[in-house]
Parts: sequence; C-alpha cells; structure tokens
Amino acid sequence: MKNIQPCRCLRGSVQPPGDKSIAHRYAMIGAIASGDTLLFNYPAGRDVHSTLSCLRQLGVPVETQGTEVRIEGRGLHGLKASHQPLDVGNSGTTIRLLSGILAGQPFRTCLQGDESIARRPMRRIIAPLRQMGASIEAREGSFTPLEIRGGGLQGIDFQPQTPSAQVKSCVMLAGLYARGITRVFEPVATRNHTELALGHFGAALHADGARIEVQPGKEMRGVTMHIPGDISSAMFWIVGALIRPGSEVILENVGLNPSRDAVLRLLARWGAPIEIQPSMQTGMEVAGSLTVRYSDRLGRREPLEVQPEDVPLMIDEIPALAILGAHVPCGMKIRGAEELRVKESDRLKALAENLQRMGAAVSETTDGLDIEGGRTLHGSDIRTFGDHRIAMAFTIAALAADSPVALDDPGCAAVSYPDFYEHLQALAGQTA
Ligand code: S3P
Repeated sequence: MKNIQPCRCLRGSVQPPGDKSIAHRYAMIGAIASGDTLLFNYPAGRDVHSTLSCLRQLGVPVETQGTEVRIEGRGLHGLKASHQPLDVGNSGTTIRLLSGILAGQPFRTCLQGDESIARRPMRRIIAPLRQMGASIEAREGSFTPLEIRGGGLQGIDFQPQTPSAQVKSCVMLAGLYARGITRVFEPVATRNHTELALGHFGAALHADGARIEVQPGKEMRGVTMHIPGDISSAMFWIVGALIRPGSEVILENVGLNPSRDAVLRLLARWGAPIEIQPSMQTGMEVAGSLTVRYSDRLGRREPLEVQPEDVPLMIDEIPALAILGAHVPCGMKIRGAEELRVKESDRLKALAENLQRMGAAVSETTDGLDIEGGRTLHGSDIRTFGDHRIAMAFTIAALAADSPVALDDPGCAAVSYPDFYEHLQALAGQTA
C-alpha cells in the first residue's frame, strides 16, 4: 500500500530506464550470436531480468554489473536444455519471443510464469510454431505451462491475425532455425525492434515495410549496444507534465524509433507542447531528449480521439493517455483497443474501474473507453491488478487529484520501472 499526494507541478529532468522491448531482443539474440554482446543502459526492470535468468538456464553465461550486461553468445546452435522449467515471471515478451527460439532447438523446454502470464493467450504463437513443425503442449491449448519440443522447422508464409510485435518476432526468430525462407506479412505495422536488432547482429534478413523475409542458418556476431530510454516509461511523465499547471519536464535519452513514437505525433496533433531535441543514433535505433510543458489547449473544444489505426503503435501508452483524457475539458474516446484486455491485466477494465473510483465519468466499450473530461478527480483506493502500467498511470492521476490516492500494489511498477517512485520524488517532490 502506498499513498500518493497531489502535487502542484512537475519540474526537472530524468532519464527513463532503458527500453524493455529492445533489451529483451538484444539479450536473446546476443545469446544465439557468436562472441560477446555488451549492453549498456540495460534496464533494471524485472521483466528483462526474467529474460536473463531464462538465458542462464539455457547455458548462456550472462554477467551483470549495474546497467551493464555481458552475454557470452553460444552461436545459433549452442543453447543447452534446461531440466527445470523456465520461469518468465510477468513477462509476455520473454515467453513469446523465447518460444520462437526454443521451437528451433532439438530439445524439450517447459515455460511458465506468474498468475498474469497464466491468463495470457499463447495460441497466437502456438499456431504458427506448430505450422512450422514444432510440437507444443499448452493448458487448454493456449495457456501456460507451455511444453515445446523443437527442431525440424520449415519456413512458412505468415500473416498475424492480430497486430502484435511479439507474435511477429516469435515467428522471425523461429525462422532463423527453419529450412527455407520464413516470410511475415504484417497488414498493420507494429514495433520493428526485432527487424533492426537482427540486422545489427548480421542475420540474413530483408525487411521492406510490411514484408519481412528471414533466411535461416546465418551465424550472427555479438554487438555492443547502448539501449535508449523507454518511451513507454517516459509517457507517464509526459502526461504528468501536460496535466499539472506550471510543469516543465525534460526526459533525456528517450528512444524515438518511428515505430514507437507515434504517441508523440498524436499528442502534437492535439496541440501538446513537446519539444524534441536532435536525436542520436544508437545501433540501428534513434534517441533524443524531450521537453514537455503544461498545456491548457488540449481537448478544449471536442474530445480527443484515439482511433483503431493509432492503437498498435502506441499500445503501451494508452493507460497514461486515458489519464490525460480524464483531465482535458472534453475528455477522450478510445477505440480499437481490445488488445488491452489481454495485457498484464484487463487494462480497459482497470482504467475504467479506477477512474470511476476517482469520480470520473467513464464507460467501457468492448474495444475502448469513453472518458468524460473536465472533472476534478478525488483521492481513492486504487486497484493496480498487479499491473505495472496501471500502478504508474494512477500515480500520475493522483498528482492532479484533490486528495491522496492509495495504491494497493505500488511495487509492481518494478516490472518495467524500478526507479519510478525515486523519479517521482525528483520531479514532483514526493517522499518515496
Ligand atoms: C511488445 C509488444 C507489445 C507490447 C509489449 C511489448 C514487444 O505486445 O504491449 O509490452 O516487446 O514486442 P503485443 O505484441 O502483444 O502487442
């Protein structure tokens, strides 16, 4: 339990943790490349450390020193069977991407995680991996524990049913081990970190917008990479600054990959005063600094709208956006976001329920939310559902409430952002 006090404004500068999506990919691909991979600014979050412990269980030497990680790559065929099940904790990216690699191994692996992972749908990766020739058992055909007997894969042509970078990446990674070419066609674009990382490590890959081709068998070489900050973590401070008068927040070294910064373009269309300082290249990724100031111009005449076509490229930013929606005069409509129901929690339900507890008028649709704006939110008890992004979104909501908010499980923020409450103190002067 933690009480969050309202604050007058957010001021100062922080560097959000290294990007979770990029970290998972560099760790996993580093493990199956030859030679060392050296990662700087590797985040401290629990999810990316679940990936490292799974890799250790597969016989990969991994050393960590603060935010530096050295992975002694075993080459494409150097992983070893683990006799114990791999524990992915709370991490959907760990289980879905690693399953792609494990489908290519000539041994059996069991994967499991926490209660939230046990509720998340895995059929979306099981179906294409089976089509490639892997043998996979799952509870009720779709849930953990998963048992994967890999090897003997064949390349496929694959078109994901739901836009998902995790599913796309799973199939691409399995494609490294298949006979023949694996082609993925994405009708709706999602984050492209796997394509960029595989290119950086020297895989035989051709990515041309929606069409990706992976050629199997090419040995990759370890790389050195400075992981840029996570825009999905930065988003909480962006919203905090936009809703508290007098705020000015600088967010340093934030990843600005065009398949991740769509939320900045949407906020700019809505009139949010966000300055982006010149970006720098890190590996195949780009990063830069953001300066965000309070604005009273957003959603003044009509509701802000998040349309279905916006959602896939800002899927993790929607919890924070919903908090913005509750603060602008005309509110927000979110559509096409049904995927949020199968994240770490049912995020549409968690957002609606908690905003209502704080006195906002919100209705849930099957695929989104209608949030009436313009009301002062009240302090209340908040249920995080053990979901890091819900805990952080409602911490930000609390900053603009008229009395303190009590979070039931503030510690879950450490899944992606262990320093979140220290950064809150730095920006809003709250005692941790
Ligand atoms: C991720 C993809 C997204 C996102 C998740 C991280 C990734 O999930 O919500 O936090 O690293 O590929 P989906 O692929 O299920 O949309």
